[in-house]
Amino acid sequence: MKKNSFQQEQEYQYRYGQGSGSGLWAEAPKEEPERQYYFIEQARGMLKARFEAGLSSGRALEKYGKEQLDELLAGEFFGTFCVVTFGCQMNARDSEKLSGILEQIGLKEIQSENADLVLYNTCTVRDNANQKVYGRLGYLHALKKKRPDMKIALCGCMMQEPTVIEKIRKSYPFVDIIFGTHNIFKLAELICGRLERDRGMVIDIWEGTDQIVEDLPVERKYPFKSGVNIMFGCNNFCSYCIVPYVRGRERSRRPEDILAEIRRLVADGVVEVMLLGQNVNSYGKNLEEPMTFAELLRKVNEIEGLERIRFMTSHPKDLSDDLIAAMKECEKVCRHLHLPLQSGSSQILQVMNRKYTKADYLALVDKIRAAIPDISLTTDIIVGFPGETEEDFAETMDVVRRVRYDSAFTFIYSKRTGTPAAAMEDQVPEDVVKERFERLLKEVQQISAEVCGRDLHTVQKVLAESLDDHQAGYLTGRMSNNTTVHFPGDASQIGRIVDVRLEEAKGFYYMGTQV
Ligand code: 5AD
Ligand code: SF4
Repeated sequence: MKKNSFQQEQEYQYRYGQGSGSGLWAEAPKEEPERQYYFIEQARGMLKARFEAGLSSGRALEKYGKEQLDELLAGEFFGTFCVVTFGCQMNARDSEKLSGILEQIGLKEIQSENADLVLYNTCTVRDNANQKVYGRLGYLHALKKKRPDMKIALCGCMMQEPTVIEKIRKSYPFVDIIFGTHNIFKLAELICGRLERDRGMVIDIWEGTDQIVEDLPVERKYPFKSGVNIMFGCNNFCSYCIVPYVRGRERSRRPEDILAEIRRLVADGVVEVMLLGQNVNSYGKNLEEPMTFAELLRKVNEIEGLERIRFMTSHPKDLSDDLIAAMKECEKVCRHLHLPLQSGSSQILQVMNRKYTKADYLALVDKIRAAIPDISLTTDIIVGFPGETEEDFAETMDVVRRVRYDSAFTFIYSKRTGTPAAAMEDQVPEDVVKERFERLLKEVQQISAEVCGRDLHTVQKVLAESLDDHQAGYLTGRMSNNTTVHFPGDASQIGRIVDVRLEEAKGFYYMGTQV
């Protein structure tokens, strides 16, 4: 674990606060995950004692109301929690792990922030994600004034930035616990630290880690599908991107741990997994016994009972021929590839440090489509990177028109302090960026409406994922290529893969009927 001096000071305050080496900490096992199971028990004990005191004083009834209190008692819970996730699939998976720990310490998950513990799992990839968190902290403060024993915890990518911690300490002193991306497994220990001294802020930020703690509890959002981390961090240092600074260097999980986790998930009812990493194509390079992502896919494909495999995200520079071959031959691998373009201009790509040109990217797309003709391609594009000229932007539009993506996530460039791009001259004026962004969005939407209809009148395998929000008696599901389909069905079918005839193409989705 590496720390800078600011963080060391924080850590010191934290250790000091918990009574350095006394009581709970003197007895704690040194090894993980045993240590965290110990703290889960300790936190549970403390919460139970508080809850029981509230029951006998009548305070619990006042706080929860009869209905919620009855639910807590029936489920043997000692309070409530709410986790709010910002950002990507990685964060969503981290939140499932955090929820797993919180359930084990005896808290019940609710969807409202009027809870005993509110945890924001933050994102900092673009500045608007940060602004959202600050905005909502104001709202949380108002809630906490009415509920003084409420605890507020912040974690995730934004917390890895020292300037953010400084700002929260100064302007949001009502926050109770702050931790980062490298130590989410420690949540129970941090909660013990905060409960034991019952004042102040517990801050624990690690600058990096090579530790991967396996086998902690997880509370999945969906019973039938799950994200599975295969690696953490990123080594690419694209010049606009803050991820390598907040998620650290690339670390791959051992294949046997990944496969064991997926087997456990399948035994528990999961039919679809999403293999997660910032750059899955460089999986396995730093393992003791190196292994490629293509080899891992083939092994996952052999797992009996598993029906679908997705993965996210691929970097075009590392997408090998062997991976294309593996995708083609593995019948469980979904017909969808997310292949971030970022820009269509070779000049901008170079300054972005992406290590491919426009021609390389287009050649790769041709190769993939030749091998797997029915594949859906999606992408990420940034508009307004420093120095982007109208000609550069025209190159991006050209790639969009040639590739014809099923969908594209378009982003306005956001300056992230500490990245090389933030210090670049000729940042593009806001009005120019907005105008380009609108043009791109229009193009992308028009193409995707045309492209997404190509399977009309065919029968497709659809994983029924939820009840349709808009129409009673309907289900919402996803095709292998990730397109959404709405069709008549009932809740008992959720989690199953069913055959659906696509009757009507609606642009981004289909209406269908089961056959
Ligand atoms: N500004 C705008 N978009 C960004 N992304 C990453 N960093 C930035 C930034 N500074 C986008 C990239 C990436 C996606 C997850 O977020 O397109 O692929
Ligand atoms: Fe950021 Fe580039 Fe790494 Fe993706 S590959 S997380 S864009 S640095």
